Amino acid sequence: MNQPVMGGVATLNVPAYIKQQKLINWVAEIAALTKPDRIYWCDGSQEEYDRLCAEMVAAGTMKKLNQEKRPNSYLACSDPTDVARVEDRTYICSATKEEAGPTNNWMEPADMRATLNPLFDGCMVGRTMYVVPFSMGPLGSPIAHIGVELSDSPYVAVNMRIMTRMGKAVYDVLGTDGEFVPCVHTVGAPLKAGQKDVAWPCNPTKYIVHYPETREIWSYGSGYGGNALLGKKCFALRIASNMGHQDAAKDGMGWLAEHMLILGVESPEGKKHYVAAAFPSACGKTNFAMLIPPASFDGWKVTTIGDDIAWIKPGADGRLYAINPEAGYFGVAPGTNEKTNFNCMASMRENTIFTNVALTDDGDVWWEGLTKEAPSHLIDWQGKDWTPTSGTKAAHPNARFTVAATQNPVIDAAWDDPAGVPISAFIFGGRRSTTVPLVTEARNWVEGVYMAATMGSETTAAAAGQMGVVRRDPFAMLPFMGYNMSDYFQHWLNLGEKLGKVNAATLPKIYCVNWFRTDDQGHFVWPGFGDNMRVLKWMLERIEGSAGGIENIFGTTPRFGDLKWDGIPFSPEEFETITSIDKDAWREELKLHEELFTKLAYHLPKELTAVKAELEQRLAS
Ligand code: OXD
Ligand code: MN
Repeated sequence: MNQPVMGGVATLNVPAYIKQQKLINWVAEIAALTKPDRIYWCDGSQEEYDRLCAEMVAAGTMKKLNQEKRPNSYLACSDPTDVARVEDRTYICSATKEEAGPTNNWMEPADMRATLNPLFDGCMVGRTMYVVPFSMGPLGSPIAHIGVELSDSPYVAVNMRIMTRMGKAVYDVLGTDGEFVPCVHTVGAPLKAGQKDVAWPCNPTKYIVHYPETREIWSYGSGYGGNALLGKKCFALRIASNMGHQDAAKDGMGWLAEHMLILGVESPEGKKHYVAAAFPSACGKTNFAMLIPPASFDGWKVTTIGDDIAWIKPGADGRLYAINPEAGYFGVAPGTNEKTNFNCMASMRENTIFTNVALTDDGDVWWEGLTKEAPSHLIDWQGKDWTPTSGTKAAHPNARFTVAATQNPVIDAAWDDPAGVPISAFIFGGRRSTTVPLVTEARNWVEGVYMAATMGSETTAAAAGQMGVVRRDPFAMLPFMGYNMSDYFQHWLNLGEKLGKVNAATLPKIYCVNWFRTDDQGHFVWPGFGDNMRVLKWMLERIEGSAGGIENIFGTTPRFGDLKWDGIPFSPEEFETITSIDKDAWREELKLHEELFTKLAYHLPKELTAVKAELEQRLAS
């Protein structure tokens, strides 16, 4: 291979197994711009992972946890200013503002390039640039796509090895001319000669930038989560949603990149269905994806395909087939315990990277909600001594664990199947203390798209900003949508219409759920977690055509007697509290739908305004 001449500093040293000149030229070009001291090509091996982790321990970025208690696991604590996704610094730089749509920050691509260029110029001085090749989805799957991330963060390199299929084998799939999404990431903290590094370098200036036309990602200033692990939100949602939409112009259908978990659910009779469920960040997606049915649901099994993202493509049979493009879970730790998510706790017994949780005196981890009583002494996520009287949180509310999907005891046998799994239903759920009932089945695809499009949710700690306010979060995609939201609604409508023509009987049913309604005292009424199985079972029986329900203004809901209640003392009155429809509240809610539709007026599908008019009529009668 041609080794391009470098502008000075690092030598390229391209491994012989890399056969693509375009890739090599791009790495050389980015190195010439960012000027790292060294270039390191990740091979994805265990030896490499262990070595990088050991280097980070030596540098103070990570601590090795007690080998007996938490084998091969680490704790990283970030800079206190770098703890969440930065939505206000995230840009979709499509050719026109309309293509990005009103829900995204936008800048003219040329202007953004002019803004970023001086920031990236020399941004890796004093550091190593890691070349991280990864596949989103099973290697070589027709649904999968490849990316290469260039990052000056070893923390990113090791997390990417868990979160994606990362390593040498990717280059075999890429060959001499395969496509890849170029991802450039820097913490934005060059080191002057002799300057001592800090444990978590980052920059107060942050940019998370996507160029949909050229399918590029550029991330500056943050080392945390979705800002830095570019395969996840940036590629698998923002760029991939664009790809799925653009492909519709080529093959008439396109595909979907969704903020959805995928789970398998099997009845005692051996009937198995896969469902995909969208919830905003930190609404318990990982818990739902690994749900353990209540003891009274003997013989029911729930298995996980994915906990956060689904890539969904139409098959020739008119069904939708889904893969989890990721290979690991980057889940929220606080609130997770043996009761709320036993399988998740089992997944992180070893080989786990924890970020921003607290350290116990015996070298293990702790976070709020892990145990009823907090340990009497901890080192908190900011490295300070902590006791239960400190009055602060020991773990950051957005503290995370990174763990390989294969460590999940209930991983589905088909989780790595390149063909994907057929989807029988879509579930959309927000965090709403009022108004939205436990579960509603849409009467048809268009009504389902309406439900998803108008979804609202109370905000959580996954993103920087105010917490607990209701914001419209269409399809739970608000922070992750890579193009105009209304065009995306239209894409869903078109897809449903076309699939329905191939086979109306297999078109997935659409459900809207809300686990979070509260009583007068503000307590959650629905037990949630494993008991969500009661709702899931009803859905499956609806799909099979055996469960009853009652039609109301918004669709079909179960009556008390339509759910299985064995094993919990849940009264019809409590059921009423979480399923009742308060017409006044809904009139207010529809005003908020109107507000959303006004904002999204450009290209808003007429079908959706028609559904709204029908709902208003039903409410009035
Ligand atoms: C996530 C998120 O990290 O949605 O999955 O914020
Ligand atoms: Mn998510």
